[in-house]
Amino acid sequence: MIFTIDRLGHLGDGIAQGENGPVFVAGMLPGEVVEGDLEGDRLVNTRIVTPSAARIKSPCPHARTCGGCLMQHASDAMVADWKTAHVEGALAGQGLHAPFRPILTSPPRSRRRATFAARRTKGGSMIGFHARGSDALVQIPNCQLVHPDLLAAMPGLEELVRLGGSRSQEVALMVTRALGGPDVVVTGGKPLDGALRLELARVVEAHAMARLTWDGETVALRATPIQTIGKARVAPPAGAFLQATEHGEHALLDTVREALGPQKKIVDLFAGIGTFALPLAEMAEVHAVEGDPAMVAALDKAARNTEGLKPIKAEARDLFRRPLEPDEFKYVTGVVIDPPRAGAEAQMRCLAQTKVPVIAMVSCNPVTFARDAKTLIQAGYRLDWIQVVDQFRWSAHVELVGRFVR
Ligand SMILES: C[S@@+](CC[C@H](N)C(=O)[O-])C[C@H]1O[C@@H](n2cnc3c(N)ncnc32)[C@H](O)[C@@H]1O
Repeated sequence: MIFTIDRLGHLGDGIAQGENGPVFVAGMLPGEVVEGDLEGDRLVNTRIVTPSAARIKSPCPHARTCGGCLMQHASDAMVADWKTAHVEGALAGQGLHAPFRPILTSPPRSRRRATFAARRTKGGSMIGFHARGSDALVQIPNCQLVHPDLLAAMPGLEELVRLGGSRSQEVALMVTRALGGPDVVVTGGKPLDGALRLELARVVEAHAMARLTWDGETVALRATPIQTIGKARVAPPAGAFLQATEHGEHALLDTVREALGPQKKIVDLFAGIGTFALPLAEMAEVHAVEGDPAMVAALDKAARNTEGLKPIKAEARDLFRRPLEPDEFKYVTGVVIDPPRAGAEAQMRCLAQTKVPVIAMVSCNPVTFARDAKTLIQAGYRLDWIQVVDQFRWSAHVELVGRFVR
């Protein structure tokens, strides 16, 4: 059967109009004519009859099999339009619209953290990403997504899996680029005993990893896995939230700085390890609030050890259950809020009752962003502009910053 693709879905599938409703076609772009076999609402065994002008040769040799990237067959301009339209659609769903600034996209080979899947094999171990739509592993020696330092860590990771992985169960390896070497968090490994601990620690030394955390236990700390944030050096707890690329972190920070303008007293909500709080403290006093006490401790320690910052008060607090109350924003001149995917419904209701003149809302979920934006707008705020930041290149993820003023 032959179909013409009308649009892209939120997960990157091409969507055509079939006789009985939408037909989903993986790897296709709007305007393309495609032939294939219909299985339910999916077209399989596809052959492109007429390609789109936006179709490009995938830069990665693993793109056809690896499920790590969805959109390598599309030009950057097409992906930018698709992600921007995703945010526009979410806003429109709440009856909102705003001017959009041109998207900021992280370059290839810049992801500083990746979670690889791995398995011990007969001859050693195998590490990679899952194949598209399956749990088969695809090795990715020429991956165009992750930072080269993560690929350089592979021999050490392979040894960890050979020693502590099992053939029946997959291991997940979260690897973060850090000063001091890769910071590795393993889940699903063999239970630790004395001998395994020693062998794993030997691998950490031999491959100059910074830290190894094995199913929640720190097995080896060869060097502190430092992240540099502004003037500060932060030692995050294992697996702590980190923006996916350095480029993305700087793009978000520059956008937040611009949104806030000159400030005296800032509240940073869902502050993590201080991605915004630490650099913003170069100009203003900051009250940073975060739910994870270990992240708060890391932020607090970094703040105390960094010269030239205005005071930072770091508070551990569950902002879903105990949001900052309106009277806690007295004298606050600007707010940055960067919640998890669920958004910040309760906090936004409190924030909406304040007189804070400017709010920079950062989000990784356009749907909850739009819902929370509406709360602010109904209380008299205006959505000035939106900046989309794409630090998850070739994936369906999207991040954005919105500037709200009153
Ligand atoms: C998207 S991250 C942003 C972190 C930080 N702004 C950054 O850019 O690195 C969201 C943060 O919210 C924190 N968080 C999640 N649920 C929370 C809650 N109920 N109360 C307070 N913080 C929470 C997470 O630990 C995480 O650090």
